[in-house]
Amino acid sequence: MIKPLLQVKNLKKHFEHKGEIVRAVDGVSFDVFPQETLGLVGESGCGKTALARALMRLYEPSSGDIFFKGESVLKYKGKAIKALRHDMQYIFQDPFSSLNPRMTAGEIISEPLVIHNTLNSYGRQKRVQELLELVGLRPEYTSRFPHEFSGGQRQRIGIARSLALNPRLVVCDEPIAALDVSIQAQIINLLKYLQEEMGLTYLFISHDLAMVKYLSTRVAVMYLGHFMELAPSADLYKNPQHPYTQGLLSAIPIPDPMIEKKRARVLLTGEVPSPINPPKGCVFCTRCPKVKPICFQKRPPLREVAPGHSAACHLL
Ligand SMILES: Nc1ncnc2c1ncn2[C@@H]1O[C@H](COP(=O)(O)OP(=O)(O)OP(=O)(O)O)[C@@H](O)[C@H]1O
Ligand SMILES: [Mg+2]
Repeated sequence: MIKPLLQVKNLKKHFEHKGEIVRAVDGVSFDVFPQETLGLVGESGCGKTALARALMRLYEPSSGDIFFKGESVLKYKGKAIKALRHDMQYIFQDPFSSLNPRMTAGEIISEPLVIHNTLNSYGRQKRVQELLELVGLRPEYTSRFPHEFSGGQRQRIGIARSLALNPRLVVCDEPIAALDVSIQAQIINLLKYLQEEMGLTYLFISHDLAMVKYLSTRVAVMYLGHFMELAPSADLYKNPQHPYTQGLLSAIPIPDPMIEKKRARVLLTGEVPSPINPPKGCVFCTRCPKVKPICFQKRPPLREVAPGHSAACHLL
């Protein structure tokens, strides 16, 4: 049995906003295994970033538990949190605002090494050169400033920085959404290469289902703070079980006419309800084309419907 690198148990992240509770993440449980890529997809506002930030304790979780390498990390304080940040890194969506404009590429990449007090100044310089090369940038770029780089190059600098400390888990939050389409594939290929080279484990967040399919070992579909479905990537795309997943996939054309003809067409209509006032039963009940009375009353748990394939739906 392979032990999970990360285990998440009934994690919640609620915010307070103008005296009301925003249920951004409302009880999700899942494992991430070493060297896999878990894709996390869902419409804007469903809680992907809140979940990612809660995992890394950039937001303090409201309740639940997180185990990293078998140890509960929620009771960690001070130094232990710092050590955790060694092993868990975050790649941000926006390569423009996430780099300090007054620092050189070399300073940006070596900053985590300075904060964590690893290597002396010569060692850090050498490590920066290595990292630049690893992400496909020229060593002499070390003294350039962010504005002297293109969007794709800036994202490479962000990636180099997040790899400086040799992390185990890298959370990629829409790492290509802000980039030109022509550059996106390059960054995706770089992430794939780095995963193989460094044995990385990824949590890869995106609302682009097609992109997630290409990269992911397994995919989780999130809606209004809950997981609707979690399955091996190929399985999820060939045989989606949850009406919400079917709806998301219906929007993507399939090149194979045989599959295209056979598959269930589900149109998503209506608006996503507010996480301040989510539906009482299944959170998807207000938009589900297959809705039944029980869906308004009871929240369906995420449970296994086929080996390794889980869904949260009363009708399965
Ligand atoms: N700091 C905050 N205070 C209050 N509400 C917040 C805060 N951060 C996020 N939210 C709310 O929590 C919900 C989930 O937000 P989140 O940013 O996690 O969504 P997302 O899935 O990452 O969306 P996107 O695809 O647009 O990035 C949203 O309703 C959002 O308005
Ligand atoms: Mg987000």
